[in-house]
Amino acid sequence: MKTTSTWLDGNYAPVTEEVTITELEVTGTIPDELSGRLVRIGPNPRTAPDPARYHWFVGDGMVHGVRLRDGRAEWYRNRWVQGDQGEVVNTHVIGVDGRTFALVEAGSQPVELSYELDPIGTCDFDGTLDGAFSAHTHADPVTGDLHCIAYHWAWDHVRHVVLGQDARVRREVRIPVADGPMIHDCAVTDRHIVIFDLPVTFDMAAAAEGFPLPYRWNPGHPARVGLLPLDGGPEDVRWFDAPTCYVFHTLNAYEADGVVTIDLVRHPRMFAGVVNGPSEGDPVLERWTLDPAAGEVRTEVLDDRPQEFPRMDERRSGLRHRYGYGVGLAGDGDRGPILKHDLVAGVTEVHDPGPGRTSLEPVFVPRSPDRDAAEDDGWLLAYVHDAATDRSDVVVLDAGDVTAKPVATVHLPVRVPFGFHGSWIPDR
Ligand SMILES: [Fe+2]
Repeated sequence: MKTTSTWLDGNYAPVTEEVTITELEVTGTIPDELSGRLVRIGPNPRTAPDPARYHWFVGDGMVHGVRLRDGRAEWYRNRWVQGDQGEVVNTHVIGVDGRTFALVEAGSQPVELSYELDPIGTCDFDGTLDGAFSAHTHADPVTGDLHCIAYHWAWDHVRHVVLGQDARVRREVRIPVADGPMIHDCAVTDRHIVIFDLPVTFDMAAAAEGFPLPYRWNPGHPARVGLLPLDGGPEDVRWFDAPTCYVFHTLNAYEADGVVTIDLVRHPRMFAGVVNGPSEGDPVLERWTLDPAAGEVRTEVLDDRPQEFPRMDERRSGLRHRYGYGVGLAGDGDRGPILKHDLVAGVTEVHDPGPGRTSLEPVFVPRSPDRDAAEDDGWLLAYVHDAATDRSDVVVLDAGDVTAKPVATVHLPVRVPFGFHGSWIPDR
């Protein structure tokens, strides 16, 4: 098995301090509409791990946030995040019902954070969550409920968990699966949740050897994708044979004309030869069409440049979308430019953040909550690392004109390591 220490080098390296900074320099003009926090999280080991065994996915979590209000950047904060039993929580941050939650998959429960990003403690959503949650939720376009698929190595099933807008679990359905698959993300339409049962599964031998993320490529595990009606039971899942590959992230899904369309980033394989981070061939943007009448999945490459961290206008969650966003990958896990895909016109625009500057996951923020507004009427917000200064900025792009210079840049006197995911959490 091959390992690499890429995930501890450069801007993957952890930062060593928690800071609170209230004097932030801004270039350009922060739009008045942006009142809230841009939060994100990623791995940031507290103590130096053994590079040979370190897996990027299991470093201690650290949350980062910038608060914007009245055209000003009021603060930057970063805080370590940990579950009550020392559990790692490092993958996503979301806002629900005025509360802030750090999320992870594979077993640990969320950690609730204060507005200022201080950890409050492990959270089972007021006693309504039984066991694991997930890092990736998707909003039901009708109800606004958040849907996810939760897994745990010891379960003989995965769980469809639905979190209401009151931050309480209102539904849990158990779907039998074999081999303990890693299911990082799902997709939701107005009628179904999409379950990705792909050939990365729990590996007892790797666990016995002490690997911190004992999941491996399993060619003996058939790739399949399932459609579960949003109010259905386990017997209602319709399974389709899927391409042999791995999918961390979906961009969006929707149903029309009797088929389910899912846009996603497809990796050719995962954790087969390289076992401490995602690095097994170029991930590309694909469209999968699940056709229940034909009983098949059709695939189409939408953009073949290496990319990850697909995002979209959350107002279109589960509905037909036109635009998608992401970051280009320069190779070996490095990040590159911000991508804007026009999936109707079939073109991709590229925002180049400049020499030596690398964007993390971009988050779309609509100008207004009005669902009928133009889909790209808003901004893209992203943390950008500058290799020359070894500091980070928050850039605000006009989502309708992404090739232009940022409309605003917040200059941080610190760097924000490459990590996973985050959200714009508007003030209420
Ligand atoms: Fe993810």
